[in-house]
Amino acid sequence: MHLFTDNRSIREYLSSWLAKGKTAGLVPTMGALHRGHLSLVNRALSENKVVVVSIFVNPTQFNDPDDFRRYPCNPEQDISILRKIMREEDAVFHPPAKEIYPEPDTRTFDFGGLDRFMEGAYRPGHFNGVAQVVTRLFEILKPTRAYFGEKDFQQLAIIRHITENLNIPIKIVACPIVREPDGLAMSSRNVLLTSEERQTAASISRTLFSARDMRQKASLPKVKQWVTERLNELPGMEVEYFEIVDDRTLAPLSQWQKNKGMVGCIAVKLGKVRLIDNIRFS
Ligand code: PAJ
Repeated sequence: MHLFTDNRSIREYLSSWLAKGKTAGLVPTMGALHRGHLSLVNRALSENKVVVVSIFVNPTQFNDPDDFRRYPCNPEQDISILRKIMREEDAVFHPPAKEIYPEPDTRTFDFGGLDRFMEGAYRPGHFNGVAQVVTRLFEILKPTRAYFGEKDFQQLAIIRHITENLNIPIKIVACPIVREPDGLAMSSRNVLLTSEERQTAASISRTLFSARDMRQKASLPKVKQWVTERLNELPGMEVEYFEIVDDRTLAPLSQWQKNKGMVGCIAVKLGKVRLIDNIRFS
């Protein structure tokens, strides 16, 4: 496995593969790798001749400076985890900020309204920062395919949207949520929870699973209210939003839809840690 820290070397390395007609898969990450990330890497390994995992904690997507400061960071450990599963020809790209942003990035993106709700509303500027870094990585690496997790459901929709809108010839591959044995969606932020908070956190997915099972019996507003009240009762937990949205427009729904995909998306604060999760209702 190769390790690159500058744009030019990785660009040269990858273009020599692509010139031979080989496929390249990119897995963008912010490090602090867990099994969720590794499921994306394994999928990319099974579908491409060469795989690049990028590790870059992107400052422009953090709307909260404390969240950026606290974000777990251990690139040496990440690299040694990747060494165990990646092949000789695969690579890690771990650039310093000046490689990604030689100058401040002032680009603003149009997400066709997909950013109006949920994360877009609660984390102003977040998706613009995500779009900046992802388009920079696409531009530098020009992979055949790029892999993203459904854990960040709105992010995935937004990345699909900009890739199509900007005519970027990269196939976006969606990968399912990987969970801990007790159901908690894996996240780099889970290590920031105290052991009590970690136990409480299992209720997030449990409540979402129960909510899905209530669909036949209860109205959509009732299910929303039940989820919110139940989680807000738990010590240290505060629901920021729980919305059941159309899986294409991401617009919040007020009643069950027969022929539309519906996804329940939640964000909670547990102590100081912000967690998100989602579940399909159809
Ligand atoms: P990060 O949170 O490190 O996640 C990297 C990728 O792993 C994302 O596509 C995310 O959806 C996926 N992922 C995280 N937890 C997962 C889980 N439990 N199951 C399945 N996939 C999971 O998302 C980002 O970084 C950044 O915004 C990034 C796209 C790298 C841009 O900076």
